[in-house]
Amino acid sequence: MKIAVIPGDGIGVDVTAEAVKVLERVARARAIPFEPVFFPWSADHYLKTGITVPEGGFEDLSANYDAVFMGAFGDPRVPDMKHAADILLGARFRLDLYVNYRPVRCLDDRLCPLKGFSAKDVDFVVFRENTEGSYVGSGGHLKKGTPDEVAVQEDVSTRKGVERIIRYAFEYARSRGRKRVVMSDKSNAMRFVGDLWQRAFAEVAKEFPGIEASHLYIDALCMQMVKDPRQFDVIVTNNMFGDIATDLGAALQGGLGMAASGNIHPGRVSMFEPVHGSAPKYAGTGRANPFGAILTAALLLDHLGKGPEAAAVEAAVAECVRDGAATADVGGSLSTSAAGDAVCQRLRFD
Ligand code: NAD
Ligand code: IPM
Ligand code: MN
Repeated sequence: MKIAVIPGDGIGVDVTAEAVKVLERVARARAIPFEPVFFPWSADHYLKTGITVPEGGFEDLSANYDAVFMGAFGDPRVPDMKHAADILLGARFRLDLYVNYRPVRCLDDRLCPLKGFSAKDVDFVVFRENTEGSYVGSGGHLKKGTPDEVAVQEDVSTRKGVERIIRYAFEYARSRGRKRVVMSDKSNAMRFVGDLWQRAFAEVAKEFPGIEASHLYIDALCMQMVKDPRQFDVIVTNNMFGDIATDLGAALQGGLGMAASGNIHPGRVSMFEPVHGSAPKYAGTGRANPFGAILTAALLLDHLGKGPEAAAVEAAVAECVRDGAATADVGGSLSTSAAGDAVCQRLRFD
């Protein structure tokens, strides 16, 4: 496992150290060759050098690594997020990582925030389209800074892009024994892209007769996620709606510190990152919860064919939560690095 590690900014640095620590421990226990290679790409590096991603950076990632691990990006000194656009969105777009896989699973009853529900009731997956939508950077300003200013941000969906994420969601459902796929959009207001999503969903759904296909507007989806998360198996949606719905999903898992994600193109070098951001106020304080990043490392292991190792990491995190061997946001009193150690101590391979 030769892994490009890009910790980034703020707590991205803190939690990535723990994820790498756990990967190292797993690799040693299972005699898996493991070579993490650290990249400085971050706000700091950008402010010092003027460089976000060096020439050929993404070609290097796709040619020379098995996977990429990223922490988080965002720094008040770079208000336009230029470096995050180049590094994070750059990786998603340039490596064509069209699947943003965001499992929403609550690992312990004590983390479930919904009255009358328990951990077992929160177990679904969101597939967020990751290369299109309002993230393509199409648009601009007219008469900027004048009273007649106009700003346009275009929301782009292509038939190919929409179809491939929808098909991936159905294939995932079929291969994992999940019974339902819900597509979520805003086709009542956004008629053009909505129409494309609706038609592509209806056509792809026909290829999967054993799976129940249904639709919810994104506002209704958010409401239903809170009202009764048991109804969901697989959700597929566009880039921005998926971003928003998965922060809500993170809250159902015990908070942003618990949520993991994979940015995947089947068969190509893929990238793994926790759902949370750089939380600048917590940077370097030892308060950041590393479990989302560690669970992200488990997704990376699973993606690289190390299913049993991934399961062992997940089980160790679940045990930590149960034991209260965790950071304060999930009810413990450990520091970031002590919480990472607690996971390492609970790793078991039989
Ligand atoms: P954030 O996820 O950084 O933090 C929001 C709040 O969630 C924090 O204040 C904290 O209370 C909690 N939180 C998040 N992660 C946590 C963790 N691991 N442990 C404990 N608590 C945690 O979101 P934000 O404050 O909206 O954004 C901060 C910066 O991060 C911004 O620059 C934003 O653009 C960026 N961001 C980056 C990514 C990414 O790189 N993937 C994702 C989201 C936000
Ligand atoms: C995420 C983040 C990013 C996104 C930001 C930092 C651009 O919120 O990965 O969820 O919107 O995709
Ligand atoms: Mn987000």
